[in-house]
Amino acid sequence: MTSPLTPQEIQTQIAPLFTRHNPNGIYLANHSLGRPLDATHDKINEYLDHWYSDLDDAWEPWLQTLDSYNAKVKSLIRLPDPGSVVLKTSAGQGLRAVLNCFPQRTLNIVTSSLEFDSIDFILRTYEAQGLVKTNWVNPQPTEPVPTLTADDFIAQITPQTDLVIISVVNFTTGQLFPDLDKVIAHAHSNEALVLLDTYHSFGVIDQPWPDADFAIGGSYKYVHGGPGSCWLAIANPQAHQTLDTGWFAKKELFGYARTADRAEDHRAWWESTPPIIQAYQALPGLEYLEHFTVEKLRATSLAQQAQMSQIFRDHNIPIFEPEDPTQFGAFSLLPAENHKEIVNHLKQNNIKVDSRNGFVRFGPHPLNTTEEFALVAQTLSKMN
Ligand SMILES: Cc1ncc(COP(=O)(O)O)c(C=O)c1O
Repeated sequence: MTSPLTPQEIQTQIAPLFTRHNPNGIYLANHSLGRPLDATHDKINEYLDHWYSDLDDAWEPWLQTLDSYNAKVKSLIRLPDPGSVVLKTSAGQGLRAVLNCFPQRTLNIVTSSLEFDSIDFILRTYEAQGLVKTNWVNPQPTEPVPTLTADDFIAQITPQTDLVIISVVNFTTGQLFPDLDKVIAHAHSNEALVLLDTYHSFGVIDQPWPDADFAIGGSYKYVHGGPGSCWLAIANPQAHQTLDTGWFAKKELFGYARTADRAEDHRAWWESTPPIIQAYQALPGLEYLEHFTVEKLRATSLAQQAQMSQIFRDHNIPIFEPEDPTQFGAFSLLPAENHKEIVNHLKQNNIKVDSRNGFVRFGPHPLNTTEEFALVAQTLSKMN
């Protein structure tokens, strides 16, 4: 088991990378918008410098950077060949590209009722248009945190199922989906495809690529990449074709042929003129993960969450303490009916957290200190 970063390593190696941002109090919403690295500023300037000085010739370094982004994500999610990653400006855009790769008919989808709003809303919108029929798998009503089970998914997957969508780590409960391989194998034996939403596991949990067909994710949270830097991973790009396409997916990019011949390489799932600045914006975060390793950052997050729980417990704050914290993501939960009130109270005291569906979420970053956790606990104790 990898050891967490030591306080000294955090001070000498992590702190110097984050000197430009000003948390203005205690920032514990790192599971939402991640902190910007100092290098992000310089990298975005590099993008602009190419534009200012090279004009049209900027495309060469720009496309190299985009390739580098795609390659780094591919390596971090351990996607094997012939898999490919394509930059999207949202996870939802990645989901739509997958929905639009099936032959035109009403698709049968199996997913949970606990998916993030973007996924949920897109599916409901497709359903309203008659393009999708969704079987929503409900969590087991375990206390205090509901749990999704593999068996409940398996029970809904039939030979009629086209696509199964699963969050690897759930955005509300933090639960790491159990027995993912079992569900994927069952979906495949029913000839259904599987799309994983990795938004809360990318950069958090280092695991071999599960045998999924697609994955979506983004850099907004744990990868310090800000909004707009997301991606779709396709395990076998030549096996499916999406309607979400454009001229950058053509067989010969500058051939100007009037055909629908598609690239046979990594560009098969590209669309029109690609976004570039998002690749520059996200690269420093990807390099941060490569340098410190997801494993080390995970060990640090687990140690911090354990420390925070201990401090909360000492203040009689009923934070949820799972039997096995390794089966949860990078934020801790405080179940509370008055969750919005708690978030506001903390905000008034310059402490930034958030809440979802009855749970206040506390997401530590290596730069959060024990003193900060104690101050949060004291502030919570003073609430009446
Ligand atoms: C699980 C999950 N999926 C997706 C997203 C983002 O979706 P989109 O990029 O479509 O806004 C989030 C953002 O919080 C999320 O938590």
